[in-house]
Amino acid sequence: MTFYDEVGGQATFERIVDVFYREVALDPVLKPMYPEEDLGPAAERLTMFLVQYWGGPATYGERRGHPRLRMRHMPFRVDPDARDRWLRCMRVAVDEAELSPLHEATLWDYLERAAYAMVNTMERSGIGPAPAGRQTLETRSSSQDSTENA
Ligand code: HEM
Repeated sequence: MTFYDEVGGQATFERIVDVFYREVALDPVLKPMYPEEDLGPAAERLTMFLVQYWGGPATYGERRGHPRLRMRHMPFRVDPDARDRWLRCMRVAVDEAELSPLHEATLWDYLERAAYAMVNTMERSGIGPAPAGRQTLETRSSSQDSTENA
C-alpha cells in the first residue's frame, strides 16, 4: 500500500490542494504570481503532481512530462517571503486534512524541504503592498526601524 492509498487517495490530495488555493487566493503576494486569473488549472497541476509523487496514478507525467520543478518556478520570484507564505497556505490545508500524525509529519517534512529548495532569489519582491504594509522577516525583527518604511 502506498502513502497515496494510506491517506485516502485522490480525494485527500484534491482536498488539500483546494484548501491550499483557497488560501493562495487571499494572499496579496502569492495571488498575483499566478499567471491565470482562475486558479483551477494550477490546482489541477499541483494535485496531479502530488498524487504521482506519493504513489498514485502518473497522470502528471503523461500530461506535463518530467516535473523539473525548480526550472518551472524560475519565471516566478520565489523569495523567502513567498516561500513562507506558500508554506503557511499549505499548513492550513494539511491541518484541515486531519491525517494521522505519522502521515502528517511525512507529508509536511517533504513540503517544507521542497519549498525551501524552490527559493530562487533572496531579493525582495516588488510585488504586493509596500514593505511598510507587509510582514517580512526584516520588518518583524526590526519593526521600529523607520528606514524600512522609507
Ligand atoms: C515556495 C514557494 C512556491 C511558490 C511561490 C510557487 C508558485 C508557483 C506558481 C506561480 C506556479 C505557476 C502556476 C501554474 O501554472 O501551475 C507554480 C506551479 C507549480 N508548482 Fe509551485 N510554488 C512554490 C512551491 C512549490 C512546491 C514546494 C511544490 C511541490 C511540492 C510546487 C509544485 C508546483 C507544481 C507541480 C506546479 C505546476 C508545474 C507545471 O507547470 O506542470 N510548488 N508554482
